[in-house]
Amino acid sequence: MNIFVTGGAGFIGANYIFYMLREHPEYRIVCLDKLTYAGNLSTLEPIIQNPNFRFEKIDICDREAVCGLFEEEKPDIVVNFAAESHVDRSIEDPEVFLRTNILGTQVLMDACRKYGIQRFHQVSTDEVYGDLPLDKPDLFFTEKTPLHASSPYSASKASADMLVQAYHRTYGLPATISRCSNNYGPYQFPEKLIPLMIANALADKPLPVYGDGLNVRDWLYVEDHCRAIDLIIHNGRVGEVYNVGGHNEMSNISIVKLICSELGKPETLIKYVTDRKGHDRRYAIDPDKIHSELGWLPETKFADGIKETVRWYLNNKEWWETIVSGEYKNYYEKMYGNK
Ligand code: NAD
Ligand code: TYD
Repeated sequence: MNIFVTGGAGFIGANYIFYMLREHPEYRIVCLDKLTYAGNLSTLEPIIQNPNFRFEKIDICDREAVCGLFEEEKPDIVVNFAAESHVDRSIEDPEVFLRTNILGTQVLMDACRKYGIQRFHQVSTDEVYGDLPLDKPDLFFTEKTPLHASSPYSASKASADMLVQAYHRTYGLPATISRCSNNYGPYQFPEKLIPLMIANALADKPLPVYGDGLNVRDWLYVEDHCRAIDLIIHNGRVGEVYNVGGHNEMSNISIVKLICSELGKPETLIKYVTDRKGHDRRYAIDPDKIHSELGWLPETKFADGIKETVRWYLNNKEWWETIVSGEYKNYYEKMYGNK
């Protein structure tokens, strides 16, 4: 089996490549990544010499380069993680989100049609459903919930999902989609809530909590997401959407306080800052379909996963300190300088 993994130098893609090479050592994995600010080749260092692994620096919007690699490698499966993924950045500058997340997905699917494929899997997000109110805790996103995106990021992901479904219906592309809740774990870029708070707390810097801090996310350990995608590409039904989430809803402020406590840092570091524009209130997934059809259930409890994640950031300071000291620093000033 030859699997193309796009965006594999990013957070979830890299964890997925490690997972696949471990679980299916006989598979060939080819990673296509543009290495944007969020892509870090050093993450893939441990497997770069693996004879079953190949890395190519490719923009998924570059039709010629993508087709060239398809021609050469003839992949059986494509798993598309490549995306601009940060909501705050999409609010500042939406254009690249539309380009990569929508047009890039189209280029990949066109190549799949041209060269033939067993499966195209689109890694999507629960954010395509918009948000849920805080006062109706029994409401969850199911696969039938209408798309109702709030941010340029989620609108671009929802657009890509619709395009994937259109390619399935119109051209018979054997496609599946997974819509997962917020992931956390090793190698997450320190602009997202959990690694940002860990990095700032370790440096005794303020911990910027948006608005009232009561927004709720449904957190899933990254490896549980990787296992879900593995199950879907092998056993999921073509043309179907699978929601992935572990009923682990937490408010932002409770996560930040937990990180302070894990690191022995004072809660006085917490600073409430101006809210994100259009900030989604609550995400919550109903994972019944993937559980009943594919037997998937999350394996990592949040209490264990967050401890493991904090330990990973403590033991791998070099990985994230290089990032924090680079381009990200300018971005950080721009986003938080006046808040
Ligand atoms: P990330 O930002 O950490 O990584 C994205 C990767 O894609 C980077 O390596 C980047 O270099 C690469 N990339 C960006 N533009 C590209 C292009 N034009 N061509 C090739 N490569 C390009 O993102 P992540 O958190 O790992 O998310 C991966 C996927 O999972 C995304 O599609 C995201 O929408 C989805 N998702 C993320 C979460 C989450 O909590 N992080 C939850 C659900 C779904
Ligand atoms: P984030 O990690 O950006 O993921 P998403 O917006 O895709 O869910 O943010 C998670 C939550 O944390 C979200 O409600 C916004 C909030 N947040 C803060 O309060 N402060 C921050 O500095 C960041 C990055 C996020």
